[in-house]
Amino acid sequence: MDKFLIRGGQSLKGTIEISGAKNSALPCLAATLLSAETVTLHNVPYVKDLITQRRLLEDLGATVLTPELRTHKVTAKNIGTFEAPYELVKTMRASVLALGPLLARFGRAKVSLPGGCAIGTRPIDLHLKAFEQLGATVSLESGDVVARAPKGRLTGAEISFEKVTVTGTENVMMASALAKGKTVIHNAACEPEIEDLAELINKMGGRIKGAGTPTIEIEGVEALSGAEHTIIPDRIETGTFIVAAAITGGELEIRKCEPKHLQAVIEKLRDSGVEIEELNQSSLLVKCGAKGLTAKDITTEPHPHFPTDMQAQYMALMTQAEGISVVKETIFENRFMHASELVRMSAKIDFSGNTARVHGKTRLTGARVQASDLRASASLVLAALCASGETVIDRVYHIDRGYENIVRKLGAVGAKIERISESPTTAAATE
Ligand code: EPU
Repeated sequence: MDKFLIRGGQSLKGTIEISGAKNSALPCLAATLLSAETVTLHNVPYVKDLITQRRLLEDLGATVLTPELRTHKVTAKNIGTFEAPYELVKTMRASVLALGPLLARFGRAKVSLPGGCAIGTRPIDLHLKAFEQLGATVSLESGDVVARAPKGRLTGAEISFEKVTVTGTENVMMASALAKGKTVIHNAACEPEIEDLAELINKMGGRIKGAGTPTIEIEGVEALSGAEHTIIPDRIETGTFIVAAAITGGELEIRKCEPKHLQAVIEKLRDSGVEIEELNQSSLLVKCGAKGLTAKDITTEPHPHFPTDMQAQYMALMTQAEGISVVKETIFENRFMHASELVRMSAKIDFSGNTARVHGKTRLTGARVQASDLRASASLVLAALCASGETVIDRVYHIDRGYENIVRKLGAVGAKIERISESPTTAAATE
């Protein structure tokens, strides 16, 4: 298992480019299953989760060509199986995104039921209930979700989600794109990734209106065609690098981003003292304000509010702000694993239930810490960048799932960060 070794205390300075959004590329790759024709996706980030998603498509029988590193040309003409096995789903929950398109196009799908993960129980009951409303039969067989459209094709329906769900909304959008008649999704997720997926499906000949608002209307069509689409920039990677500039007292120009996708994050960071200038529609200039940082509270909520995927990074930043900041997590029940690791680095954080209180400003010190999930890993990297001394972060495979080349990107703007690869024999000896 690889580790990161970070020597903190360097102010970051320079220019960083943002990669394509992981959480948009994942559903867009799944959507290629909706058509027998070739769908070309550009700006697919080169991260572990996308490699896994590509493998899933290939296992199902799709052909995936990569004429360039970040371009995927997918032809899902000869789909031979309709199953996402446990081995894949256990490494990546987003494999459940295969359910909607397989059910829509072939009338059947089998996907291993994902279990809980480090951040919560994360059921998919709302996806399954919506498939039933579209006319599918859904059963659980030996740990697998087995879904069928009895008449071969789903039928449009009115679906009201009890809770806002991002991949649930995406799955229903894909399932109903080929259904007979009209589907309306109420209480839909409004994340930019939903809009991006709708844009791709519409380029394929789909008829989706209202994506990005809580009510989405989908007029089902008989078949979808090929298309070409560029994935939006990753708003969470953007937010992470804004915090990197601020926490190190540096100055970063962040290019190829989409500031309008992270307005709640930008506003909160400005409020706490980070200077963020929008140079143009796709570039930001970030530095820590002369007066330093002041503690501000956040509550995570679905888009357009403060995203849960930036909570851990924000908590790291608040260790450097004067005062007490209250961080409330309302999306996932167990998303404070990074807090205990930050405490090992001398942060003063107490938490109970879904609320953490960060007492700043503290001088962080390097330590051996362990990453527990993707965003928790990012939070530890940020803390290590401003800590005195050396930090070794274990289990960085979590960060490889969603941050493209983070070591190279941070190293190029002055961070002292390196990856230590452990040979299997050393790992066995130390475990
Ligand atoms: N929920 C249910 N039942 C369902 C679906 C969701 O109870 O059927 C609950 C969840 O347990 C959670 C809440 O609803 O408490 C919201 O979950 P949601 O379904 O929106 O999450 P997701 O679709 O599984 C996506 C992102 C996550 C991100 C969340 C919230 C992808 C592939 N994943 O997950 O990204 O945190 O939305 O914005 O898009 C990450 O990138 O690090 C990550 C975890």
